[in-house]
Amino acid sequence: MNKGKIIGIVSLKGGVGKTTTVANLGASLAKEFNKKVLVIDANFSAPNLALHLGLVDPKTTIHDVLLDKVDVTKAIYEHDAGFHVIPAAYISRKIQPFKLKKKIDYLKDYYDIILIDSSPNLNDEMLATMIASDEIFVVTSPDYPTLTTTLRAVRLAKQRKTPITGLILNKVYNKKFELSIDDIEEAAGVPVLSVLPHDIKVPESVYYTNPVALNKPKANSAIEFKKLAASLIGENYKDPRLWSRLRGMFRKDVPKDIVNRSLLQNER
Ligand SMILES: Nc1ncnc2c1ncn2[C@@H]1O[C@H](COP(=O)(O)OP(=O)(O)OP(=O)(O)O)[C@@H](O)[C@H]1O
Ligand SMILES: [Mg+2]
Repeated sequence: MNKGKIIGIVSLKGGVGKTTTVANLGASLAKEFNKKVLVIDANFSAPNLALHLGLVDPKTTIHDVLLDKVDVTKAIYEHDAGFHVIPAAYISRKIQPFKLKKKIDYLKDYYDIILIDSSPNLNDEMLATMIASDEIFVVTSPDYPTLTTTLRAVRLAKQRKTPITGLILNKVYNKKFELSIDDIEEAAGVPVLSVLPHDIKVPESVYYTNPVALNKPKANSAIEFKKLAASLIGENYKDPRLWSRLRGMFRKDVPKDIVNRSLLQNER
């Protein structure tokens, strides 16, 4: 049997969209592509993945696992969309983040993909995600302050020899004042694999505690999450919306993120 992959979703800046990405990739991989998926909240001191997924007040959490109180399987919950979730505790408890790898590594025998939602702080919590991951994605947005922190995250991953598969560009307005994909790739030396629009449907879906990919499956952001999810597992996702298929047919240049995704898709 093929082993699954552990993918860390990181950034050194808060609020760029790590939790949103984990929730939506998890939902898309399970619902659209029938994959066995586990998502883990490793933002130990400020967790909120469970809230994005409508999991209220979970009794057992990753904190109990890291405190050696329970076996990791006891902290796994099932979402209606079919994927599994390990939430974190909302009250702070002293834990050893570096135990994470040992606790979750063998779960690769049971899942196709395990996604880790990281802390944005440059401390043991974030390093624990990097160490536990087979590969990471760095979430960023197209502005200088975020890019600066993204470059630090990329450097850190390279130092730790954690492979960086790509950048996820989130909250994109498509305005002139934003950094271009070329600028960002050149600075980071890492391909941009997804361009997620700033989309009001994302916070609206958070309000309904359901990822946008499930709550508004035809929203622009939902479609982009599904395309990214597909490329992670070597598949292609066809946008079902007629107008965007037509637009694609009349496009002169193929955007860089589409090229990068198809390269990734072929590698997998
Ligand atoms: N593409 C988007 N369009 C509009 N709003 C978005 C988008 N992505 C995320 N958001 C909103 O931005 C906020 C922060 O997102 P999220 O919690 O995913 O970030 P984070 O990187 O996990 O933050 P933290 O580092 O604090 O854990 C949320 O309110 C979310 O709804
Ligand atoms: Mg988060």
